[in-house]
Parts: sequence; structure tokens; C-alpha cells
Amino acid sequence: MHPDTPWWKTAVAYQIYPRSFADSNADGVGDLEGIRRHLDYLAWLGVDALWISPFYRSPMADFGYDVSDYCDVDPLFGTLDDFDRLVADAHGRGMKVIVDWVPNHTSDQHAWFRESRATRDNAKRDWYIWRDAKPGGSPPNNWISSFTFEPAWTLDDRTGQMYLHCFLEEQPDLNWQNPEVVAAMHDTLRFWLDRGVDGFRMDVIHLIGKDPTLADDPADLAALSHVPLNNRPETHELLRGLRTLLDSYNADRVAVGEVYLLDTKLVAEHYGHGDELHLNFNFPPLYTAWDAAKWRKQIERAARELDPIDAWPTWVLSNHDNARHRTRYGGSEARARAAALLLLTLRGTPFLYAGEELGLEDADVPPGRTVDPGGRDGCRAPIPWTADAPHGWEGAEPWLPWSPCSGERSVESLLADESSILHLYRRLISARKESPALLTGGIELLDAPRGVLAFSRRDVATADLRTVLVNFADETIDLEGFGSCEVVVSTAPGGEGARFTGTVSGASGVLLRG
Ligand code: GLC
Repeated sequence: MHPDTPWWKTAVAYQIYPRSFADSNADGVGDLEGIRRHLDYLAWLGVDALWISPFYRSPMADFGYDVSDYCDVDPLFGTLDDFDRLVADAHGRGMKVIVDWVPNHTSDQHAWFRESRATRDNAKRDWYIWRDAKPGGSPPNNWISSFTFEPAWTLDDRTGQMYLHCFLEEQPDLNWQNPEVVAAMHDTLRFWLDRGVDGFRMDVIHLIGKDPTLADDPADLAALSHVPLNNRPETHELLRGLRTLLDSYNADRVAVGEVYLLDTKLVAEHYGHGDELHLNFNFPPLYTAWDAAKWRKQIERAARELDPIDAWPTWVLSNHDNARHRTRYGGSEARARAAALLLLTLRGTPFLYAGEELGLEDADVPPGRTVDPGGRDGCRAPIPWTADAPHGWEGAEPWLPWSPCSGERSVESLLADESSILHLYRRLISARKESPALLTGGIELLDAPRGVLAFSRRDVATADLRTVLVNFADETIDLEGFGSCEVVVSTAPGGEGARFTGTVSGASGVLLRG
């Protein structure tokens, strides 16, 4: 591996949704100190970087993605001192810390919006996007907001104008065309950079550039929300500004864009020419069914769009916005294991979502306990730490119900069982670390029988070679040609350390040396 390879290319990243991870003060909501107390577990697992979803001051209309103060910790999650301790202790274990940054919108309780909405002529009026309603009172354009699928405009009686919000009405969009907004938001990045964070996950970053004419979305697409439709040239100049700011610290800080444009070609554009974001999430694979041929296309697509521009891919199967992949793939543990092998052997930086290493499924949240306006409660169920209830969440009942089999799938239970999915994740992460081919090598898709995805990873400098075979079908499949290879990791029981037998059981995968 080249000595100049940046850490974020070889890292395994791990997303923590702080409300649901670990509770240190018995109020039923996870917090920063809860994360700190479990750093040894994360180090044991082998993850290199933590991405922590928002913990800033927030009225929690969108559980923290509605920020009322970018430069403070919400008391629910702790204090700035807790954050500093967490970063110091993560760094002490060699782990990087990436924080979430929410630039497209603030909370309607942010001081900037309170001022902006107060009068038409105040200094911050133009920090948000205000327009008159059309004659007759309809909104200025046909944009639809996410979650509610209602018009993305709300009339504010105080001044008789409407403001834009691509999400909830409690989340007014900032006006990034105003240089004062750019400067103020850059300052929020500096605040966390100065505190030692290693990078940012940038929330719906593709939204910050907007069509200055606010033209209607095409009528045939307008039933969608505006969010996946907002692909604008204005965004790229803003991204270059963010990159310049990060680079002024040192080349080690990373920006990971949540580009919610569901086309890999458009995602690729947000890397720029190495002068925009270092990494971007590519969601089409997350929305791909458990199907070898479809996955092969996604892998080809990522290589086709990203390799020519020297952009480094990312892979993600689960996060706090979507049903967990085990749930999406039908609940099968075998599939979840095979998916882990795929995720951790592809070329690019993998992002794990806390709990997937336990094989968690979504909680079934009864109507009386739903809290999220976007219907995403199921994947946000609390992490079970101990086998016995309340699974390490002493005190108030957790804010969301448990996911199925939380006792058997607790960290405590799975740690005690070497054959568990948790130990499998650990072996995969460690197999990745010891192989230059898996860390930074090229990928080549191989011919394989129907139902099987096969690829090799090769590092030219060291001649390190790995082969990955994933059987998406439920039946055992016989494969020829890999008989001399050693099985490094097998997602089905047995076989590791031995020669490959040539058969891959249903819904399983193997990582081969050679
Ligand atoms: C992103 C976040 C999501 C949030 C939305 C609005 O998509 O991942 O959780 O609700 O942006 O900030």
C-alpha cells in the first residue's frame, strides 16, 4: 500500500445514532458518555472511524437533524466536555471521529431563523428563502417536502411571506447564495475542526445549491419530494469552498457527502476533480435487492463512474434512515452474514451501522410508540448490550422498543459465541486489515454461475490476491477453479483455514486467499 494513502480509504467506518447506542444517565436516551464507555468494544471489533449522528442543541423535531445551535451539545446527550473526552479516548485507541453536519437547514428555533422571520427588513431575512405566495395564496413553486409530502413552503403570518423547507416546516432551508450564510456555516465547521474532529458527514449536501429561479420540478416527478431532484451546478462551487476550508487544516480531515441523488453518475460529480468531497454515499446499492446479477451491475456501475475520475467508492447497507438490511433481505441471518462479507470486501470504504454486527432487525414499533415523522423508528431501536432485560439500559425505558430477540442478539450473548455474526464481523474486519488487496487493490468481476457473485481483489505492488464468492441463492452451488485457495473467512460454519471445497452453501460467502 502506498505510504501516502489517506486513512479514510482504508478505514472501516461505524455509524452511531447516539439516541440509540448506550445510555449513561438512565434517562432512556443514549448519550456521548454512553458511547465513550463502549469504545473498548468498538476497538475490539476493529472499526477505525466513528461517525456520530447529530448531538447538537435541537428541539428534536427530526431527532437532531434540526439544529438550533451548531456549536453546542444538547443537554440530552451531555456537554462539550463529554464530547472532548470522547474524542480524546477514541483517538487514544487509534479511532477517528467524524461528526454529522447539517448545512441545508436549521431548526426553526435557531437564533438565525428567529431573527429572519421577525421582520421583512432584518439583517438575517435573506439567510433563508422567503417568497410571496402566488396570487390566490398557493406556494411559489411545486416543490414537495420529504416526510410529509406536502408543499415545501409554509406561510409565516408574522410577515405574510412563505419560507422554503425541503423537510419539516421546523427545518427551514438556509440560503447558501448569501455569502454571510457561507461564512457562518464555515465557522461552524471550524468550531469542530478546532476541537479535533477528523471529518464530517455532510447531511443532504447536494441540496445546498438551489436553482436561483426556483423553477417548478417537472410535473411527472413532482409527486416525489424535491430532495432527490435537486441536482444543481451551484452546489459544486460551494463544495469547493468547503474543501478549501478542510484542506487549510491538514489533508487528513475528511468530508463524506450524503448525496441523496439516486444515480451513481450524479453522485460521482460531487467528488469534483479531487477538489470537492473526499467521499460520497452512493445509495443505489442500498436500494438493490438481494440478487447477484443486480449487485454485479451496481459494482460495475460504481467502477465505471468513479474509477475514471480517481474517486474512491463507499459502500453502505444500513443507516438510520432505512430499514436494516437484514430486515430488507427477508430476516435471514445467513443473508446478513453473506452481506457482511460482501460489504467488507468490496473496493471502497465500508460504513457499518451500529447493530448490524449483531444481526439486528428492525423493531416492530406499535402505532402508540411511533415518534419519527419520517417513519424510520424501526431501524433506530436501542442496541442491546446485555442478555437480560433491560439489556444494559438501566433506568427509564428506552425511547424506542427493542428489536426482535434482543437478548440472544445482545453484545454480551454474541461475544460469548465464537460462531456468532459479531465474531464474523470482527474476523472480516481483521482479514481486510491484513490484506493490501482488500484495502486498496483493484476489483475484477469474475464469471460465475447464476446466483453467485464472484470477484477478485488484487494489489499489484505486493501481488496480494483475494477472491470473494457470494452465493445469493438459497441452494448450495458448486464452483470450479478455486480448489487450491485457502478459505480465510466463511460466513457458513466451518472451513476457515482449510482448502476451499468448491461448494458454497445457500446464502453464504467465502473469502479466499489467492
Ligand atoms: C438526511 C438524514 C435524515 C434527516 C434528513 C434531514 O437524509 O440522514 O435522517 O432526516 O437528512 O436532515
